Order: sequence, then C-alpha cells, then structure tokens
Amino acid sequence: MGPARLALGEPRPSGSGGLQLNPRPWTTPAPYPTINIVRILGIESSCDETAAAVVEDGETVLSSIVASQFGTHGKYGGVVPELASREHLRAIVPVVREALGRSATRLEDLAAIAATVGPGLVGSLLVGLTYAKALCFARGLPLIAVNHVEGHIHAVILEARRAGAPVEFPALALVVSGGHTHLFEVLPEFRYRLLGKTRDDAAGEAFDKVAKLLGFPYPGGPVIDRLAPHGNPRAVPFTFAKMKGNALDFSFSGLKTAVLRWVQAHDMQAEIDARRALLRERLQPSFEEWLAVTPPRTLDLLASFQHAVIAELLIRAAAAAERIDARSMIASGGVACNAGLRAAARSARLPYPVHFPSPGLSTDNAAMIAAAAFPKLERGDFAGLDAAAEASLALA
Ligand code: KG4
Ligand code: ZN
Repeated sequence: MGPARLALGEPRPSGSGGLQLNPRPWTTPAPYPTINIVRILGIESSCDETAAAVVEDGETVLSSIVASQFGTHGKYGGVVPELASREHLRAIVPVVREALGRSATRLEDLAAIAATVGPGLVGSLLVGLTYAKALCFARGLPLIAVNHVEGHIHAVILEARRAGAPVEFPALALVVSGGHTHLFEVLPEFRYRLLGKTRDDAAGEAFDKVAKLLGFPYPGGPVIDRLAPHGNPRAVPFTFAKMKGNALDFSFSGLKTAVLRWVQAHDMQAEIDARRALLRERLQPSFEEWLAVTPPRTLDLLASFQHAVIAELLIRAAAAAERIDARSMIASGGVACNAGLRAAARSARLPYPVHFPSPGLSTDNAAMIAAAAFPKLERGDFAGLDAAAEASLALA
C-alpha cells in the first residue's frame, strides 16, 4: 500500500485542512506537483523503550512498535542508563524496520522523520536521534525534533482527532509519568504555558520507589494499580501537602517518606523478602502470585498510597483547569494508565471533558512523537542535522 496521492488543490479526504505543502521542500517540483497524504516516521528512545511508528496526517496510526526493556531493568528497581543505551542500540534497526514494514511504508513514502530530542537520558536519546539523522541524511528527508512531553500531550490530541471530537482549547494538560508531573495550559496552535510541576519526585517515580521499597518489581505503577482495589484506600491517612508559593506545584517526597515510616513501624521484612524471592525466581510473576504474597494490611497501604497520589494529581489539575477556564482536560503519560485515576476523574464530574489516551498510547511510544511532529511539518519547523539531545529540555 503506497501513500495516496492528491493533486494540489483537491480537498483532502481526512479533513485535517488543506495542506499546501511540498513535503520535500528542497526537491525540484515536478511539472504537475502532487502532495502526499503526509506520513511521518516517529522514533522515540528517551528512556527504556525503543519505539518507532508511522502516522498519517497526524491522526492515523499505521504502525506502532515498542520494544520494552522490562526484562533488563526489572530486577534493578529502576532504569540503568548504560544498559538502556546498549538495549536501544540493539533494538533501533529492527524496530524501525518493523514499523515501516507493518505500515507498508518505504522510506521514499515519508514526508519527514521525527525523533525525540529530550527530555530523557542523553545516552538513550542519542541512539534514536542519531539513527533518525542518518536516515534523513541518506534519503534527503527533513528531520523534526520533538519534545517527549509534547509527544505525551499529542497522544491524546491524535486520538481525539481520530474520534472526530477534537480537544478544545484552552486545555489543561496533566502530564504524569516516571520522569514528569507537569501542568500545562495548551493554547491553539500548540503553544504551551507551564502552570505547575513537581518540586521533587514525579508521580510515576513515587509509584516505582514505593514498589521497590516493598519488594515489588519495576515499573511499580502497574502492579500497585492492580493490587490497590483489593485494599481499603482510607486505612492509612496520608496528609495532603500544602504548597508554599505556587499552589499548582506537586510534591510526592513527603508521601514516599510517610510510606517508609509506616513500613518501619510495622514488621514487614518477611513479606518483603518473600516478594524479592519471587522476583528472583520468576521473570514476570503473575498478578495472582503478587496478590498471594501481599497481606491485607499491605494491600490497605497500597490502596491508601494510590488514593493519596490520585488526590494530589486531580485536586491540583482541577484547580489549574479552573484558573485558565479550561474547555477540556488532557491526562497523559504512563501514570495516566492508572485505573484508579481514570475512575476518579470520571466520578469527579468535572464541567469539561477529560481525555485519557488508550493504554497503549499512555506509556512511551513513537506514534505520539510522529503525531506531535505533524503541526511542525505544516509550519515548516524542521531541525538541522546538528540538533542536540537535551536531558532536561523544557516544553515551556
Ligand atoms: O510515560 P512512561 O512510559 O515513561 C516516562 O516518560 O517516564 O511512564 C512510565 C511510568 C513509570 O513510573 C510507571 O510506574 C508508571 O508510568 N505507570 C503507572 C501505571 N503504568 C505505568 N503508574 C500508575 N499506574 C499505572 N497503571
Ligand atoms: Zn514518557
């Protein structure tokens, strides 16, 4: 299946607005120029997932391949940067090849290649970015540099467009993952204003650290999410942190310390050892196996911890949305997979729609990178082949 071609000036069937653009601006125009329905190859390698995807017109995911390094980092309780870079090097070529193959896309069908340039682990970012640059150089394709956080926001925008119910602006975006907990105002034409962010740990990091402390595997969010409904969320009363200064900032370190104190005050070593043993014996124990080594009081602790994280996220996000008079809310990033967070957002009956991405687009993927690149392509916002990876690249 090659890309559909349209003569210039014909209405575009996908409804994303007449794009008057030669996708390869520096090539000599053909006598009767044609434009592609734009296909972008996205490449993401900012942390511990090597991902590639082909997305058409910023809204149709033709392929999305993610190679997870779960098996590499699981036993260390967190991502080991050197191992992550090595795994990206191993995975990048087959992952990109698979994304092109599954979407029946040849490199010459592409309008551009988009790669994550930050924030993230520099050694990891460099693998995807350098590979993208090499492909662009070899094929004369434009390179588009994408901020990973903007990618998470576009995971939601992509699906909403696809569903025919585009996100309305101004939108309040809650980006909540292992590396970020940020509130942004999203304005038309994808301009961003930072409203608040975590002053210490990211929410996903809090899930991961609490999981590690209790002998659960990395990443901690999915297993805590599955176990929490089996406990009482009001059993352990955690206090809500009052923020001096910007009331839209988050803090999770106090909560993490409170969990540590609770663990120290209760004799939990035997059950923690049992879970660590399970992790050593089996690569990926099932949920039932985790449940079997988690007594009721620990389930209560997990439920209460998750409840406190959700309250911290939703209360501040709702306050931010009110401040900007938001017409919609976007929640994205790995923690946006959390079933408890989704249920709480639903039952809060907020006076605007709350958009969550489907689980496959919540955690790191490259479809969101290709989607975020689409408006940049429309604007001609290309990066040079000297574009640098930036560990702490800010969105706004
Ligand atoms: O977006 P992501 O894949 O990578 C980063 O950009 O960080 O997010 C990974 C984070 C991890 O901290 C993981 O524990 C958390 O998202 N996470 C969850 C859930 N699934 C993943 N946290 C809570 N509940 C979940 N279901
Ligand atoms: Zn992410």
